[in-house]
Amino acid sequence: MSLRITTLSENTAGQTDLLAEWGLSILLEAGDQRILLDSGESISLVQNAAVLGIDLKSVDKVVLSHGHFDHTGGLRSLLQQVKHPLEIVAHPDVWAPKYSQRRNRPERFIGLPFQLQELQSLGARFVLSKEPVELCPGVQTTGEIPMTTDFEGIDAGLVLRTANGYEPDPLLDDLALIAKASAGLVIILGCAHRGMINTLRRARELHPGEKIDLVVGGAHLKDASDEQIWQTVSSLNEMGVARLAVSHCTGPRAVQILSQTYGDNFLFNSTGSVIELD
Ligand SMILES: [Fe+2]
Ligand SMILES: [Fe+2]
Repeated sequence: MSLRITTLSENTAGQTDLLAEWGLSILLEAGDQRILLDSGESISLVQNAAVLGIDLKSVDKVVLSHGHFDHTGGLRSLLQQVKHPLEIVAHPDVWAPKYSQRRNRPERFIGLPFQLQELQSLGARFVLSKEPVELCPGVQTTGEIPMTTDFEGIDAGLVLRTANGYEPDPLLDDLALIAKASAGLVIILGCAHRGMINTLRRARELHPGEKIDLVVGGAHLKDASDEQIWQTVSSLNEMGVARLAVSHCTGPRAVQILSQTYGDNFLFNSTGSVIELD
């Protein structure tokens, strides 16, 4: 099965006619199926798709990697462009009341910025599952990602508003895509809030014995210590992960270390990047 991965929205852009915006949206074409992971933060997805000649009406399914605004805020403008009804696959906690809590700053809402009813009235049909969902032959979601490493944890500034005040957000909704290509598995991350290595371990749990060829997306190492970044590098080596195309919340320090480690097998995956595999 041929795979084509086009980044439609990311914090940076590789061409001056493309809009860069904090967030992520990646189109996976697997054979004749078009699966869109995330919608970016606002209008960049729709605008960039037009510039790149991608007809969003051809999108078969949308997957939400988690409920944060920078991955879901483009849903309204996306739904105005697509064929209806449009299936949107996500974890039920994508609707949880997600906030950011940083020192000396008031809590800020960072969750999905629409009401379910509004998106339904625009043609969205949500398929909410904690389990892996097959999107087309050879492509599935990870479902919930168990936290199995001892060096990855969830950002303490990400919280949920509850009846008892703000509590840590376990980000159970965090998921990734797994696609099978001839050279091995391709993993497409949203933010990897539950840990990039935990996510890759989950992919291998679902596909025992399969090699991981390529990891694309946000690795959420932006606030990680050098120690954690180097532990990540050694886990990637141990797992035999061949290539990386990360960006978004990976952070400059991790990008520097990973790009030096991977050399020609590292791509900073900005808006407009196209990766083709068979
Ligand atoms: Fe996020
Ligand atoms: Fe993000």
